[in-house]
Amino acid sequence: MRVLITGGGGQVGCALQAALTHHDVLAPTRTQLDVTNLKAVLDVATWSPDVIVHTAAMTNVDGCEQQPERAYLVNALGTRNVALLAQKCGATLCYVSTDYVFDGQKGAPYWEWDLPNPLNVYGASKLAGEWFVQHLLDCFYIARTAWVYGPGGRNFPRKVVELAAQRPSLGMVVTEAGHPTYAPHLAQAIARLIETGAYGLYHVVNEGCATRYELARAVLKAIGRPDYPLEPLTAYPRPAKVPPRVELHTVALRSLDIALPHWTEGVTAWAQEEGI
Ligand SMILES: NC(=O)c1ccc[n+]([C@@H]2O[C@H](COP(=O)([O-])OP(=O)(O)OC[C@H]3O[C@@H](n4cnc5c(N)ncnc54)[C@H](OP(=O)(O)O)[C@@H]3O)[C@@H](O)[C@H]2O)c1
Repeated sequence: MRVLITGGGGQVGCALQAALTHHDVLAPTRTQLDVTNLKAVLDVATWSPDVIVHTAAMTNVDGCEQQPERAYLVNALGTRNVALLAQKCGATLCYVSTDYVFDGQKGAPYWEWDLPNPLNVYGASKLAGEWFVQHLLDCFYIARTAWVYGPGGRNFPRKVVELAAQRPSLGMVVTEAGHPTYAPHLAQAIARLIETGAYGLYHVVNEGCATRYELARAVLKAIGRPDYPLEPLTAYPRPAKVPPRVELHTVALRSLDIALPHWTEGVTAWAQEEGI
């Protein structure tokens, strides 16, 4: 298949290129293809992709809160542009979305069919992207993921490692929980999903939920610093409101015999890959 990956320079974009080596892949970075430029996006139709995996996004959650217009331009209208490209060339679209479409107040895991209610601009702008995909296309996958980190990326585990090298102790919230998801595990699952033809909405995350505190603890253990002092915090002031606990059911994905390993395996693989 000919697979176009938007956001080719990002964590998921890079991991997808490694997972799709058996396909003909085009993975432009933002400077090579800005998804907010409709004409440039539609011009890619000349390459005739069979599948488009749309990972490009403004992913800085606090940045989206501070620049809402930019967030909607990239995450909502950029996704519309990519959906129009898929429509133009009859390609299947796989849109990578987020657990932040939910408010985290349910007190139980979210089903794929639960009603979203985003708390922040990032979640709202990604949900608007889902709306465009669902309304413009017949053949699409929406893959909602969470707390993504990959080798070489700017992400939470990398930040923990850097801060622990600089400070005698760190505070980490115990009041925010989600599914830490290792980009190569996500990419392998998406690579299988796009071969199924089972269009629809999926939760694609590593198994198991963790608080930020638990994830930081696992990262420190994986890099050989299990006794580094971590303080549990109940609040951390930041511009964006974030959902307290988003646990996701993965029944739709598992019905296709696709499952990701437990999140702790991702942390171990990440530390090995980073050589730390
Ligand atoms: N990271 C997470 O924790 C997380 C959680 C849930 C869902 N997701 C979703 O997963 C997908 C991939 O995320 P990721 O972790 O790979 O994030 P990432 O590393 O930040 O990658 C996103 C990529 O999109 C590019 N981009 C930004 N604006 C663009 C534009 N206007 N046109 C084209 N490319 C643009 C960025 O380029 P620059 O770096 O040059 O700006 C970056 O390479 C996103 O759709 C995100 O919403 C991520």
